[in-house]
Amino acid sequence: MLAAGTQAKNDTTVVVDTAKPGATIHRNIYGQFMEHLGRGIYEGIWVGEDSDIPNTRGYRKDVLNALKELQVPLLRWPGGCFADEYHWRDGVGPRAQRKRTINTTWGGVIDDNAFGTHEFMALAEMLDAEVYVNANLGTGTPQEMAAWLEYMTADGDSTLARERRANGRDKPWKVHYFAIGNEAWGCGGNMTPDYYASLYKRYATYAKTPQDNRPIMIASGGNDDRTDWTQTLMEQVPYDNWSMRMQAISHHYYTLPTGKWDKKGRALEFAEDEWFSTLKQTLRIEGMIEKNVAIMDKLDPDNKVGFYVDEWGTWYDVEPGENPGFLYQENTLRDAVLAGLNLNIFHKHARRVHMTNIAQMINVLQAMILTDKEKMVLTPTYHVFKMYIPFQDATSYPVSIKNDKRYSYGDESIPGVSASAAKGKDGKLWLALVNTNPNETTGITVETGSEVKGAIGEVLTSEAMDARNTFSTPKNIKPKRYKVKAKDGKLTLDLPAKSVVVVELR
Ligand code: AHR
Repeated sequence: MLAAGTQAKNDTTVVVDTAKPGATIHRNIYGQFMEHLGRGIYEGIWVGEDSDIPNTRGYRKDVLNALKELQVPLLRWPGGCFADEYHWRDGVGPRAQRKRTINTTWGGVIDDNAFGTHEFMALAEMLDAEVYVNANLGTGTPQEMAAWLEYMTADGDSTLARERRANGRDKPWKVHYFAIGNEAWGCGGNMTPDYYASLYKRYATYAKTPQDNRPIMIASGGNDDRTDWTQTLMEQVPYDNWSMRMQAISHHYYTLPTGKWDKKGRALEFAEDEWFSTLKQTLRIEGMIEKNVAIMDKLDPDNKVGFYVDEWGTWYDVEPGENPGFLYQENTLRDAVLAGLNLNIFHKHARRVHMTNIAQMINVLQAMILTDKEKMVLTPTYHVFKMYIPFQDATSYPVSIKNDKRYSYGDESIPGVSASAAKGKDGKLWLALVNTNPNETTGITVETGSEVKGAIGEVLTSEAMDARNTFSTPKNIKPKRYKVKAKDGKLTLDLPAKSVVVVELR
């Protein structure tokens, strides 16, 4: 690996068009997803007040601190597939008296419902994050959904507001986002788009809250590169209607190394063929966004309805010895590079993509944090999310890449470099770069239209494609300082093989 500022051949040019500021990169593109699944919530963040693991009112301290540093802007809960079997009443009131329910979707384990609405909302408040509550369409009724909304948002003297107060919360909570159902095409009820569109209208009609506390209403869309859900919802749901709203459609996109659900590929010890195929698969998300956004642009030219991706990330074969229903997987440099690629794509489409949620925050799929009882480790994906913080609420700039040296494997190839640039809330010019090639450093010339003296920031890379942090070596892979000075008014930098770099251009 070459050090920053040394001598890879500079034949790739990244051009940042600072004269044409684009859409704001909504901070909720950095949203997190937490579901009642495996050790995602129980153990991952919630251990209870009586636990030996150091905790603040039941939330483990180490994880809480790590999440605070990550500046998580938004939390989505309680699922996922779990949302369509979740009955909010099971999770309110004195914990000892809460129902014990079977999590039929994820491992058939008992959920004692210790983590419910109050615990979720308190977590969001501790993190200063917005909330995205996913309502139950599959096994719930409009009445149950309406009652949950009233419980959370009513300020008057209704019975439900009294109950919330008796349960310890005086003031209503702000509900920023509210979705009706999840994956209605599958675990959310195996519906057709037409049937879901009708149900959405029915439920959304009764999703009433006080005028000053109206959540952004989200319809559940399709997955992968299908567009039929967007087409149907945009045609059938009058999104700007006085009696019901649909302000966003949300898709899911998971990256499987092989592209096959029966044998997805391993999280560790993979060869270069799966490094390549994983990155190739993940880049297809852009086609999914473009095709769906094209439909929305036609049917909603004023850009009123958002296109969200409220589940994305890698999905590997479950680690040997782990409960298959818990979706626990390791997280390596490959996940970090993949996260950078996805974030750059979301930035590029920030005009319509105002929210995404990586799946999932802790101990599930492409997690930020892994825990093993009292131990905790930050993953390479965590580090990328942290490096990208300056992009939250930044103003995007168009970026073009000239003479990209494509990364070839066998007889296929993908772009060698991915880039994104923006003016941060701090007024600084930020550049994110990803090198997909695991073998070669790429020399980059950066052009911004004005003089740049240098670049300063961080780089995340390692020798091994599957480098990771373990509970015994938690700092094996972490960002390192990266600094380059321009020479003769020209900024050139070396982008190490398989790396993510985020720098401020000065
Ligand atoms: O994130 C795990 C699961 O993936 C979610 O519950 C579901 O929505 C999706 O299929």
